[in-house]
This record gives sequence, C-alpha cells and structure tokens, in this order.
Amino acid sequence: MKRPATLIRGDGIGPEIMEATLRVLEAAGAEFEWDEQLAGLEALNEVGDPLPDATIESIRRTRLALKGPLTTPVGVGFRSVNVALRKEFDLYANVRPARSILPDGRYQDVDLVLVRENTEGLYVGVETFIQVAGDPKAVAQSVAIVTRVGCERIVRFAFEYALANGRKKVTICHKANILKAVSGLFLDVGREVAKEYAGRVEVDDVIIDACAMKLVLDPAQFDVIVTTNMFGDILSDEIAGLVGGLGLAPGANIGASAAIFEAVHGSAPDIAGKGVANPSALILAACMMLDHVGERDRAEAIRRALERTIREDGVRTRDLGGDVKTLQFADAVCRRLG
Ligand code: NAI
Ligand code: MG
Repeated sequence: MKRPATLIRGDGIGPEIMEATLRVLEAAGAEFEWDEQLAGLEALNEVGDPLPDATIESIRRTRLALKGPLTTPVGVGFRSVNVALRKEFDLYANVRPARSILPDGRYQDVDLVLVRENTEGLYVGVETFIQVAGDPKAVAQSVAIVTRVGCERIVRFAFEYALANGRKKVTICHKANILKAVSGLFLDVGREVAKEYAGRVEVDDVIIDACAMKLVLDPAQFDVIVTTNMFGDILSDEIAGLVGGLGLAPGANIGASAAIFEAVHGSAPDIAGKGVANPSALILAACMMLDHVGERDRAEAIRRALERTIREDGVRTRDLGGDVKTLQFADAVCRRLG
C-alpha cells in the first residue's frame, strides 16, 4: 500500500529540483501517495495565504512532508512559513547529515549527523534593550530558555536516531563550563539519558568551541552530535561546508506528530527557471524521509547511486563545476539505480 505524504514543490528552483527528485524516487520504486499542497510565495499568489489551512491539514493527516524551498517575501504581516510549520507541529529536532561525496572535496571520510534542538535556547526571542543615561539602547539583553523536558526529548531523539540508523556514538556538545544553568542542564540531562543506552550507543561530550575546531581538523572522529539551538545553527552550516556546501546538504525537521524533509538551501531566485539547479540536496532529503519511514535499503540505494553519479561518472551540475542540467542529473542517477 502506498504511504500518504504531503508534497510541496516550493518557490524558485523548488519545482525543478522536486521534479528531479520525484523521478529518482520513482526509479527507486519508492511508493508514496502524494497529496500536493501549496506554501510560500506561490500560495500567497494563488490563495492569498503563504501557509494555507489545507496545507496544514494535509500534513496533520499524513504526518509526513517533502518540501521544496520557500521564498520568504519581505513585507508587512508576512509570517515565516518555516517558523509557522515548526510551531504548528512542534518540530523540535533538526537533523542534518553530512557525508563526503565529492572526489576532490577537502575531506574524504566525513559521515556524521548533527541533531539540533529547534525550539529552545537563546533563539526563543526573549530580548530587551535597557535604557541608561538617556541612551535607549545602552544595554541589550537576551534570555535563553532551556527546559529539562526539552533537553530530554532531543537527547533521546539523538540516541534513538543512532540506534535506528546503525550509528555507534553520540557526542553531547555544550558550553557547561561557562553557561552553568542553560548548558549545564543540557549536559546533565544528556548524560542521564545516555545511561539508558549504555552498551548500545557510546557517548562522549565536547565543549562547543573545541567541537568547532575538531570538526575542521578531523571530522571523521564524529558520528552523531547533539546540541542546543544556537550551537546547532552554527555547527550545521560548518558541517555542510565540510562536504561541499549547500547543493549537497539535506535536512529534516522532526516532531512527535509530523516530519518535514527539505534541502537546507533556499529558493535560489538567481538561477530559478534555468534548469541548472543541483537537485542533490532535495534527493538526499527524500532519502532521509525513506529512512524515517523504515525504508533504509531504498534510501541507501539512492544515496549510493547519487554518489556514484558524481564520483565515478563525473556527472555534475554547474554549482559543482559541471555543465549538466537538473533533470539530466536526475536521469543519470536513475540510470545508476536501474
Ligand atoms: P539560497 O540558498 O536560495 O541561495 C544561495 C546561493 O546558493 C545562490 O547563489 C543560489 O543560486 C545557490 N544555490 C542554492 N541552492 C542551490 C542548488 N540547489 N543548486 C545550485 N545552486 C544553489 O539562499 P538565499 O538567496 O539567501 O535565499 C533565497 C530565498 O530562499 C529567500 O527568500 C529565503 O528566505 C529563502 N530560503 C528558504 C529556505 C527554506 O525554505 N527552507 C531556506 C533558506 C532560504
Ligand atoms: Mg542556520
């Protein structure tokens, strides 16, 4: 039986890379019953709402979505669709895997996954300016909010992810030496949760700044990294950079009631409509979606085909120094699958 899933083609290069991704999924025999919905600029133009109720209803029903990038129009009263979706479905875990694909990349042995807490910490937006001696912006203050429940669910998510995906070690990344409350709580709870997985998944911990350096020196020492919101924001881009940047970086936002898979990059208006975008990030996001629904073998087959297409066949889109078009690349991956 086909599994229902919501499909959002997205803005800019979204429809082009989604078409490519659907071709690859079909060639791999992945069976989804797509419920196509609108979001972003396209939804704003068509139905006057960047995040229509029908789209939310669809995701509530399918609990699973593959989403193209959405343009965030700059304008009064516009709510960020990505933030709205995260709030609506409490998508607390942001998952960003990175694996070496390019044969001429800086690192050949990267295979790690960053699990970022997506709802708490310094990014909750509790900020104020304090006036001193007539200067309304003399002092700026931000409050970080971290809860035991929030720490527990994200660390547990990281360990469960490790178990489900055959990973050996979880590294808890923190700054508990300085931020004794907000980061200390995360580390304490992390170590408690880790005990439940003793003998099944290894655990260690590292201070965020040292982690950033170690990633650059030798990324192969990491397997799964779990961390709080802002540290995860910074590390996730660092990690994408280790393996060649945006065109190859997939991501997932996962909560208790829904999971949304997408490329890390945006709608790339500068190259939209030209058919030259790299669909790899979205294809790899679709692989994460297959992992999520228990179709690991199919996901691995696609990942292997995509890697061989780039590494062995030298088929590359423009961003990776090649001249192959979006759909040509997809067809090359399909041939590798066949
Ligand atoms: P962007 O990621 O769209 O583009 C940055 C640069 O990378 C551009 O030069 C673009 O051509 C290139 N690029 C991105 N993806 C590519 C691909 N698959 N193949 C080849 N080249 C690629 O970031 P930018 O320009 O800051 O944002 C554009 C729009 O996307 C904005 O409206 C922004 O709000 C939105 N955005 C949406 C996201 C989402 O829906 N998850 C995430 C990030 C940005
Ligand atoms: Mg970021």
